[in-house]
Amino acid sequence: MTIEEIYQLAIKMGTAADPRGKRGVEKYLARQKKIYDELPQRKKEEFDLESLKNPYSDTRILFGDPSVNVDKIMAGIDFDTGEVVLADRLNEKGEGIDLLIAHHPAGGALASLHEVMDLQVDLMASYGVPINVAEGMMTNRISEVARKFGPINHYRSVDAARILGIPLMCIHTAWDNLGWRFMADIFEKEEFDTVGDVVSELKKIPEYAQAVKFKAGPSLFTGSEKNRAGKVVVSEFTGGTEGSKEIYEKLAHAGVGSIISMHASEENREEAKKHHLNLVIAGHIVSDSVGANIFLDELEKRGVHIIPTSGLIRVSRTKSGKGR
Ligand SMILES: [Fe+2]
Ligand SMILES: [Fe+2]
Repeated sequence: MTIEEIYQLAIKMGTAADPRGKRGVEKYLARQKKIYDELPQRKKEEFDLESLKNPYSDTRILFGDPSVNVDKIMAGIDFDTGEVVLADRLNEKGEGIDLLIAHHPAGGALASLHEVMDLQVDLMASYGVPINVAEGMMTNRISEVARKFGPINHYRSVDAARILGIPLMCIHTAWDNLGWRFMADIFEKEEFDTVGDVVSELKKIPEYAQAVKFKAGPSLFTGSEKNRAGKVVVSEFTGGTEGSKEIYEKLAHAGVGSIISMHASEENREEAKKHHLNLVIAGHIVSDSVGANIFLDELEKRGVHIIPTSGLIRVSRTKSGKGR
C-alpha cells in the first residue's frame, strides 16, 4: 500500500463508522464547500482545501511523499520527537520502517482539532438532545478548545520526521469513530441491568483486560456498580476532545442513565454527578487502542507489518480471532 492509500482508507473507514452516518458526513462536507465558496479570494488562499474532501481536520499526512510504498509501519498513540528518533534507531538496525502513524494529532492537524468537534452536535442529537441546544453548547466549547490548543508547539514531531526523513501521518477522529462504533454496537444495543454489568462487559474486551493488568483499566467516576445502568450511551469516545460540561444535564433529561467515556476532567465529573449520571471511565489510551486496532487489522490484511509503540495496546483480531 502507498501512504496515500492508507490515508484514503482511514477516511473511508472513519466515514463508514461515523456517528453522523454517511449522509451526515456528506452534509458536513457540503456545508464546508458552501463556506469556502462564499469566502473572498484573499481568504480562499488561506483555506485548507483538503477539508473539502476529508471531514477530519485531525487526520492528515504530516510529512512524506504520498506515493511512497509502505511495507512496515510504526504505530502508536502519541508521537513526539522521541518516537521519531526511536523509529530512526530501529531503521539503523535494519528494521525498514516506511511510515509512522500517530493517533493524537500534531502539526496543523492538532492546531485545527476543534474543527472535528462539530460531529458531537449530531452525536448528542442522536441521544435525544435537541440539535439547537447541542449546537449552541458546542459552539462555545469549540472556540474554547481552539484557544486552549492554540499556544501549543504543534510541529515538534513533524519537524523531527522531516529532519530524519521518515514519513509521518496522524489518524485521530477516523480511528475514534471506529472505536465508538465498536463500543456502541455492544453497549448501546445490549441491555445492562447494573453499572457493574457494564464494567464487567467492558473488561471482557481484550484491550481492557490488558489495561486492567497495566493498572489503567476501567473505573467509575460517578455512581456505583450497584446502580441501575438505565440507558447506556458511548457519548465520549469521538469528536476531537471533551465536549461541553453543560451537556450532562441535557443528556440526563433525554433519558440517559450511564455514559461510557474515554476520560473526563474533574469539572465534567462534578457536573455528571450533579445530574445523577453514572460515568464509566473506560480509560484513555486503551480506548484509543480499540479504534486503532480495527484499522491496523485492515493494514495487516493488506500485508503491512506493524510495530506497536507509544502506549498502543495492540490486539490483532485477524491473527488471534480474539474478542468481539
Ligand atoms: Fe482518540
Ligand atoms: Fe485520545
